[in-house]
Amino acid sequence: MLTKNNTIYDVVIIGGLGHVGLPLGIAFAEKGLKVCLYDIDKNNGEMVKKGQMPFIEYGAQEILEKVLKAEKLFISFDTKDISKSKYVIVTIGTPVDEHLTPRTRAFLEFFESIREYLTSSQIIIVRSTVYPNTCEQLLRMLSNGKSWHIAYCPERITQGYAIKELRELPQVIAGLSDHAINSAAALFSLIAPKIIKTSMGEAELVKLFSNAWRYIQFSMANQFYMISHKFGVDYERVRWAMKEGYERAANLPSAGFAAGPCLLKDTMQLAAFDVNNFLLGHAAMMVNEGLPNFIVENLKKRYDLSEKKVGILGMAFKADIDDTRDSLSYKLGKILRFNGAQVYYSDEFAKNPTFISKEKLIENSDVIIVAIPHSNYKGIVIPESKEVVDLWGIVKGGKRELPQGYIASEYTSVNFFNSAFSQTVRINKPLKNKKFLR
Ligand SMILES: NC(=O)c1ccc[n+]([C@@H]2O[C@H](COP(=O)([O-])OP(=O)(O)OC[C@H]3O[C@@H](n4cnc5c(N)ncnc54)[C@H](O)[C@@H]3O)[C@@H](O)[C@H]2O)c1
Repeated sequence: MLTKNNTIYDVVIIGGLGHVGLPLGIAFAEKGLKVCLYDIDKNNGEMVKKGQMPFIEYGAQEILEKVLKAEKLFISFDTKDISKSKYVIVTIGTPVDEHLTPRTRAFLEFFESIREYLTSSQIIIVRSTVYPNTCEQLLRMLSNGKSWHIAYCPERITQGYAIKELRELPQVIAGLSDHAINSAAALFSLIAPKIIKTSMGEAELVKLFSNAWRYIQFSMANQFYMISHKFGVDYERVRWAMKEGYERAANLPSAGFAAGPCLLKDTMQLAAFDVNNFLLGHAAMMVNEGLPNFIVENLKKRYDLSEKKVGILGMAFKADIDDTRDSLSYKLGKILRFNGAQVYYSDEFAKNPTFISKEKLIENSDVIIVAIPHSNYKGIVIPESKEVVDLWGIVKGGKRELPQGYIASEYTSVNFFNSAFSQTVRINKPLKNKKFLR
C-alpha cells in the first residue's frame, strides 16, 4: 500500500475512463492499490460503477468486477479528488489540430485548470502521448520556486489487448527529477516485468518513433498492394510467398486500413517536431489515407457506382474491437457516396442504429468491401453474383477483379524426393500464424 496519512488513494488517473486510463487503473487495482479514476465522461462512469466495461478490452471485465467488489477502484467526477493521491497519472487524449499539428497549449491549459489540486509532493506521471518537450514546459509552468516531480511513462499497448500487454511489456520511464523517476519506476514495477529508464528526450522519441514506425510499415504494405493490384497480381499471395521460409520478410504486414486515433496523429506530431522534414511520415500518410480512394477508383473503372449498392463490412478502426474513432471505413463510405453509390455499413462489435447485420448487408449489396478483418468474417461465403473487395483475403466466393487467394486454403511447396525435383501443389490446409497486424 502506497498511501500516506494525508492521501486517500495510491493513484488517481485523470482520463481514467478512457482506453488507456481504464485498463491501467484496473491493472493497478488488481495489484491491491487504491485507485481513483477521475474523468468527465459520466456515461462511461456510470457503466464502470456498475461493473460494466464501456468498450472492448479483452480480459478486463472480470478484473473490473473483482476490484470494484474489493473496494480498490473508485470513479470520480470531482476535480478535488486529484489532490487525494500520491501519484497523479494523466491519460487524457492529445489529438492534433486541423493543421495536423499538436495541441500542446490545450494540454498545458488543462494542467492550469487543475493546478490548485496538484502539490509538489505528488508524483505527476504523464502517460498520454505528448509532443517533445511538453513535460519540461509543464515543469516550468508549475514550478513557482518549488521542486515538482514529473515523469513521462508513455503508453505502448495496442488497444483491446491492454490487460495482457500491461503484464508483458517493459515500461519506459523518464523524469525531470530522480525522485520522479524512482517513484514512477516503483509504481510501474508493480505491474510490469521490466523497467527501462531513459532520458526525457529518449522516452518522447521512443513513443513517437514506435507509432511512426508502425504507420510507415503499414504504408509499405499498402503501397505494395496498390502496385500488385495495378500489375494484376494479388498482394496477399505475393506476401505469403515472400514470407514462406524467408525470415527477413517475416514481419511484412498485410495491406489494410491504417487508422485509429494514434498512428497518423503521432506520425504527424513527429513531422511537426521535425519542422515538416519527416518525408517518410508524410508519404506514409498519403499512401494510407489514399487507400480508400484507390479502392473506389478501381470499382469506378468497372461500374457506374451511382447504380450500385455497396456494403462495407467492418466500421471499427481495426479488427475485433468496437472503437470507430478515425476509422477509414467512414472515409471509404463518404467517397462511395460522393460517387453516387448507396452505402450500407455493418460491424460485429461497434454499435450504431444505422448499421445492419452482415447477412442483410451481403443480401442487399451489389459490391461488398471487407474493410476490417473481424475474426467472424473469416471464411464467410459471398454469392458468386456479388463483387467482392477483400484486402485481407478472409472471405470466400464473390466476383473479384483479381483471382484473389482465400488464404485459409493455401498453396504450399512440397519437396518430392530431393531439392532438384520440387513442385508446388495446392493443399487445403490453413496457413499457420496468419495474424492481422492492426
Ligand atoms: N488508445 C490507445 O490504444 C493508446 C495507446 C497508446 C497511447 N495512447 C495515448 O493515450 C492518450 C489517451 O488516449 P485514449 O485512447 O485513452 O483516449 P480516450 O479518449 O479513450 O480517453 C481519454 C479520456 O480522458 C477523458 N478526459 C478528456 N478531457 C478530460 C478532462 N479535462 N478531465 C478529465 N478527463 C478528461 C475523456 O473523457 C476520456 O475518458 C492519448 O495521448 C493517446 O495518444 C492511446
